[in-house]
Amino acid sequence: MAAAQRVTKAVLPLAGLGTRFLPASKAIPKELLPLVDRPCLDYVIAEAVEAGLEDMVFIVSKGKGAIEDHFSKDPYLERYLEERDKSDLLAEVRRAARLARFVSVRQNDALGLGHAVLTARAVVGDDEPFAVLLGDDIIYNPGNPGIGQLIEVWEETGGCVVALLEVPREQTYLYGICDGTVQGRRMKVTGMVEKPDPALAPSNLSIVGRYVLPAGIFEILAQTRPGAGGEIQLTDALAVLAARGEAWGCLYEGRRFDTGNVLGWLEATVNLALERPELAPRMREILAAARG
Ligand code: G1P
Repeated sequence: MAAAQRVTKAVLPLAGLGTRFLPASKAIPKELLPLVDRPCLDYVIAEAVEAGLEDMVFIVSKGKGAIEDHFSKDPYLERYLEERDKSDLLAEVRRAARLARFVSVRQNDALGLGHAVLTARAVVGDDEPFAVLLGDDIIYNPGNPGIGQLIEVWEETGGCVVALLEVPREQTYLYGICDGTVQGRRMKVTGMVEKPDPALAPSNLSIVGRYVLPAGIFEILAQTRPGAGGEIQLTDALAVLAARGEAWGCLYEGRRFDTGNVLGWLEATVNLALERPELAPRMREILAAARG
C-alpha cells in the first residue's frame, strides 16, 4: 500500500558531544573512534549504502569537521600513497568518499534528537520518505542490512517504521518503548513513550537507532514540544503517527552493538575483530590469555 516512492536519503544525527567518551572524544568526534581499524561511522554508512541509500545528510555541530574530512576526497594523501605503490591503502582511503553523496547541516542548538532530525528539513524537503540512522548503534548483518529490513517493511506499510529490540525490563528507561501487537517480526505500534520507568513501560520492546520516516514527520516535529529530559524527542513525534495507526516496528535480524558507551564499544571491537578472518585466530589467543 506504500507510495511508489523510493527511500534514497539517510539522515545521520551526529551533533552529540560524546561526553561518555571523554577525554578520547575531546578533539576527535566520537563517531570517528575506531572499531578495529575503521571509524564507527563507517559501519553505519556501509549498512546504509548496502540498503541502497544514496544521499547521506550529516547533522553536525562545532568540532565535527573531521567527519566531513573522512568522507571527502583527499588528493594529497591519495597522491602520496600512489607514488609509493600502496594500492591497498589507497583503495581503503578512497572508499569512504566514494560510497555515497554526503551533505552536512549544522545543528546550532542541542535541543534533542527530534530537533536534530528537523534540522535536515531544508535538505530533505517535505516530499519524500527518508531513513534515520543513529551513529552509536551498529547493526551488524552483512548481506541483510538492518535499515534495508526496515525499508522492506515500509514498502508494504508506509507510515513510519522503527527498529525494535527486546531489552530487559529494567533497561526501559534508556530507550523509546513501543506498545502494540506483534506478529512474527513485525509490530503494529499503537503507542510509544520515551525512556519510561520500568514500572510504567508498556512493553520491553525498545527502539534502536534505525527509522524510516514519512515526509510529513517534519511538520509534526515542528510542533513537538520538549519532552523527556527537556528535549524535543523524535519518539514523541512518532507517537502522533502511532495514534493515527501509521507506525510499525521491525524486529530486525542482526547483532546490535551500542557503541555509545565504553563497554558497548569494547564489545563491538572484540566481536568485529573476531569477524575478520585475518585477525580472528590471534584475537582468540589474546582473549584467552587476557587476565581477568
Ligand atoms: C535515542 C532515542 C531513543 C532510542 C535510542 C536508541 O536515545 O531517543 O528513543 O531508543 O536513541 O539508541 P539516546 O540513546 O540518544 O538517548
